[in-house]
Amino acid sequence: MMLKTFKEDVEFIRTVFNKEDEEVLPLHPPYFDNREIELTTECIKSTFVSSVGQFVIDFENKIAEFCGVKRAVACVNGTNALHLCMVLAGIQPGDKVITQPLTFIATANAIKYCSAEPVFVDVDKDTMGLSPEKLEDFLKKNRGIKAVIPMHTFGHPCRIDEIKNICDKYGVILIEDCAESIGSFYKGIHTGNWGESAAMSFNGNKTITTGGGGMLLFNDEKLADRAKHLTTQAKMPHRWEFRHDTVGYNYRMPNLNAALGLAQFEKIDKILSSQRELAEIYKKYFKERFVSGPENARSNYWLQAIRLENRKERDEFLAYTNDNGVMTRPVWTLMTELEMYKNCAHGDLSNAQWLEDRIVNIPSGVRV
Ligand SMILES: Cc1ncc(COP(=O)(O)O)c(C=O)c1O
Repeated sequence: MMLKTFKEDVEFIRTVFNKEDEEVLPLHPPYFDNREIELTTECIKSTFVSSVGQFVIDFENKIAEFCGVKRAVACVNGTNALHLCMVLAGIQPGDKVITQPLTFIATANAIKYCSAEPVFVDVDKDTMGLSPEKLEDFLKKNRGIKAVIPMHTFGHPCRIDEIKNICDKYGVILIEDCAESIGSFYKGIHTGNWGESAAMSFNGNKTITTGGGGMLLFNDEKLADRAKHLTTQAKMPHRWEFRHDTVGYNYRMPNLNAALGLAQFEKIDKILSSQRELAEIYKKYFKERFVSGPENARSNYWLQAIRLENRKERDEFLAYTNDNGVMTRPVWTLMTELEMYKNCAHGDLSNAQWLEDRIVNIPSGVRV
């Protein structure tokens, strides 16, 4: 009975992408046209392929305007964007930083890069992001938390306004992991506007890509200036002298990647419309199995997801779809199940566990 349903699912997904042949249907391939070739060629011809160049500046300005933040600072990837958010927040060895157990490993790793201690608080079942109720409950009972990093899972915004109010109440720094949420709005405001800083990713599997790349978002000019300084080896401006005023990082996005990003950005509206339309198509077919965007949110539907009955059914679905040429993947293994993080402090994680047992991502590329 179950296999019959999975067979129908596979057939349906293939028709959605017009891939009725044997070809493997990928999860989220990048979407390119001639413009990427034009702009990267222009960049190569200019010889400014590394960290200095106009494409990086233009890309930063476009992203800042799109997200409605004062400034955006480009960097090499989303992971080091998160690391830099930690550094700018003054996270010190031994500090405790809360994040969610259901996230990509980079969120927890960025905390560890500062020799700080990740602390895991549960997510909500509907948003799959940090639960405000569980956060407040944890902060009531545990002192000494320095910062909180919620993540907008698969582009679905978490209850970020409530989380911000709680952080303000308890005097905790808020940083948003927006790696997956370009184009996602909560109560009409783009994600990345609630915290002291936010980190975005332009990895090859994201809504728009720069190959590898990331962006820091700020509404504080001074922090943005500091971020730019730190991403460029903390080199003091001078026409020829090499003088550095602190230990900086080689984190600046190369111009070549930014050229690719600008070409991608030109079609962001088209890509977002396609992803939201795909969500509607999937919703009609999968009905209550489909994971819809949460209330008060306009999700980018970066990765489409469905909910299976239990872990056994999840694993059967994963095996059947992948055996039959439709790429699917489970949600991440909870951070608290990984060797490096299994001894970290955490609260009750029943929602995260419930989701880990059931959620599967299905093909989410742009349909052309
Ligand atoms: C939630 C989350 N945080 C951080 C990252 C890290 O971004 P990057 O791969 O660009 O380093 C990713 C994705 O790759 C992510 O999904």
